[in-house]
Amino acid sequence: MNEEQIRDEMKKIKRNPIPKRTEEEINLFVKDLMSKMTLKEKIGQLYQTTHDGAAITGPSYDASQNKRLINEGMIGSFLGLYDNMDIYRLQKEAVEHTRLGIPLFFANDIIHGCRTSFPHNLAMACSWDPQLIQQASEVVAYESSHSGINMTFSPMLDIVRDPRWGRVMESYGEDPYIGQLYARAYVNGYQQGDLTSYDSVSACAKHFIGYGQVEGGREYNTVDMSERVLRQFYLPPFEAAVEAGCEAVMTSFNVYDSVPSTANKFLLRTILKDGMNFSGFIISDYTSSSEIIAHKVAKDMKEVAKKCMEAGLDHEMVSNAYIKHLETLVNEGQVSEHLIDDSCGRILKFKYKIGLFDNPYKNVYLNFEDYWLTDDNRRLAKEVALNSVVLLKNDDVLPLKSKKIALIGPLAKSIQVIGPWGGKARDEDCISLYDGLKNKFKDGIEINYSLGVDYHEMDEAIYQEAIDSAKQSDVVVLAMGEQQWMSGEAQSRANIDVPPVQLKLLKDLRKLGKKIVFVLFTGRPLDLRVVEENSDAIINAWFLGNESGNALADILYGDFNPSGRLTMSFPYIVGQIPVYYNHLNTGRPYDPNDYYRSKYNDIPNDPLYSFGYGLSYTKFSYNSIQFSQDEEGVTVQFTITNEGEYDGADVPQVYIEAKSFSVSRPVNELKGYKKVFLKAGESKNISIKVKKKDFAYYNIEMKKEVENGEYLVKLARNSQDIILSTTIFFER
Ligand code: NOJ
Repeated sequence: MNEEQIRDEMKKIKRNPIPKRTEEEINLFVKDLMSKMTLKEKIGQLYQTTHDGAAITGPSYDASQNKRLINEGMIGSFLGLYDNMDIYRLQKEAVEHTRLGIPLFFANDIIHGCRTSFPHNLAMACSWDPQLIQQASEVVAYESSHSGINMTFSPMLDIVRDPRWGRVMESYGEDPYIGQLYARAYVNGYQQGDLTSYDSVSACAKHFIGYGQVEGGREYNTVDMSERVLRQFYLPPFEAAVEAGCEAVMTSFNVYDSVPSTANKFLLRTILKDGMNFSGFIISDYTSSSEIIAHKVAKDMKEVAKKCMEAGLDHEMVSNAYIKHLETLVNEGQVSEHLIDDSCGRILKFKYKIGLFDNPYKNVYLNFEDYWLTDDNRRLAKEVALNSVVLLKNDDVLPLKSKKIALIGPLAKSIQVIGPWGGKARDEDCISLYDGLKNKFKDGIEINYSLGVDYHEMDEAIYQEAIDSAKQSDVVVLAMGEQQWMSGEAQSRANIDVPPVQLKLLKDLRKLGKKIVFVLFTGRPLDLRVVEENSDAIINAWFLGNESGNALADILYGDFNPSGRLTMSFPYIVGQIPVYYNHLNTGRPYDPNDYYRSKYNDIPNDPLYSFGYGLSYTKFSYNSIQFSQDEEGVTVQFTITNEGEYDGADVPQVYIEAKSFSVSRPVNELKGYKKVFLKAGESKNISIKVKKKDFAYYNIEMKKEVENGEYLVKLARNSQDIILSTTIFFER
């Protein structure tokens, strides 16, 4: 068929409502279909491959056999495709030219925006506003479901403690409580409780599990952690996602307890399928099944197929161990056909549930771009961007008063502000900081712009030009940091410095005695010691997506008061990593008056900026603080007042600390917070409740329990700034 004919057919796709069916009806349908399928066809459903034109992040693949494989019923799904015509062609092949006409499903990585680009996920997490992020996820779902795909490989639920790992920008930071809230928000935003809808998309939680703790922050590296740490810190976001009905879970590249996750029966069956009653399907990561050979737990692809199937892996991404070897393994009696039936049933159930048997072209649109980047979506992208920014330092310089500024740095005019995994977003739809300021003030602002330096090099003349621009201006605004591709997958860094060439310029500009505002662009926490020492204000701008420049202009000039709070600590220096707020105490906690203590001789123990930290243009005071305890838990009540001149939001946080337990517990555990907006001068009475069950922790018997005893409950501005605490007891 030529393009014209395909277009004509695509124009005729109908969007009839898809019936909502009961679990029973779905199971009956699947049972009936499977009774007609050969073993080979069932195995075919367990294979996900990719195709020409797809975005891939791993070894190359062979797409030349795809048509034949589809015709034989040997492919269950595709990943990475965007072109709706390609998707249409492949689906038509599956539906019209196979024995049973079983539709394919299509998946893709759309993690912080399809065409409308929201800030990267770590940035969005700093909003401490899951409701807002749920709204953003609804937009992502809408645009994705109109881009041909049925599933997004998101949310990424890895807990992260090491900014050397480039993928921290995909995560929501270091805290399981925050992780749980966002897990729900993303899944609900994507799936909207209705997978038959034409506007929702299925979620796939990843990476199961522990990937955030790769040794040395090196990509794809070994992970080693106790079962308690796994359950207490790494599992909760996945539990929340599964509870919210997340349709799929992706395994991680790493080992857990020396067994690769993708072939780890304890993880996939004991914890996920049996322990959490997970009824969706488990998919490997890109070739993570065949990689178990390199991990040295399988000698060949046949053993890969056997081990992964027995472990509970349902769907194999790109590697083809299943379609090559499972049939033989079953015929030889080495793998039970029941396992294949179970996995195939899960995939078919998913396809039926989302309506692919009713309308296989459900998400395929000829004019898909018409649904993207609407004005409303752009407005939301700006709101999310504003809420993601974290003010790290402000010595009386922000908001800016003067409109005569030097704007210097490689990110000042850059529209490359989407950040990694940008979906279908385009640089040309992004607003640079320079343009944001111009949009805001037109000719009412004098911007003395200079590139200054880039990320590695300097040109004497351009360097001097930056110094001159600064001399002519009242205040210097630097737009510097990482280039957007410097974080993300396969972007581990042993050094997390701001590029040295930028620091040199910063120090030289400092000598001029002008006020300096450092606008930091980054995908991860960086070592900011030099920046902190040489700047009057630091705005952590992450990568904010489409509305970056407009949002930053509002923040610089006080039309929006920053309210972001870090969800990942900024280490003092790379040698402190891993550094996270919810660490254990040690037997010799730091004491400046005692030598043999847990400390460094050259740096402090604490991070430069800790979890929960973030400043505002206004001051908030806390009064009438009361803690009360009842059967259900503990309530913290207080009055919060905006004492300053700017409206703004504060984020009071409640932490607990178990004073004595059967296992050592963290010095602080976040258990509740509220984001409170207050007009200048306004007061509000706030109450934050921590339920008794939320004091639970995996005890010595590996049971999650609230042990009797003494706990501290703390009201705090951030994990290091405790306003008031009280002791409570749980008694038998
Ligand atoms: C590899 C990445 O680890 C994973 O997050 C992603 O979803 C897959 N590739 C598919 O692109």
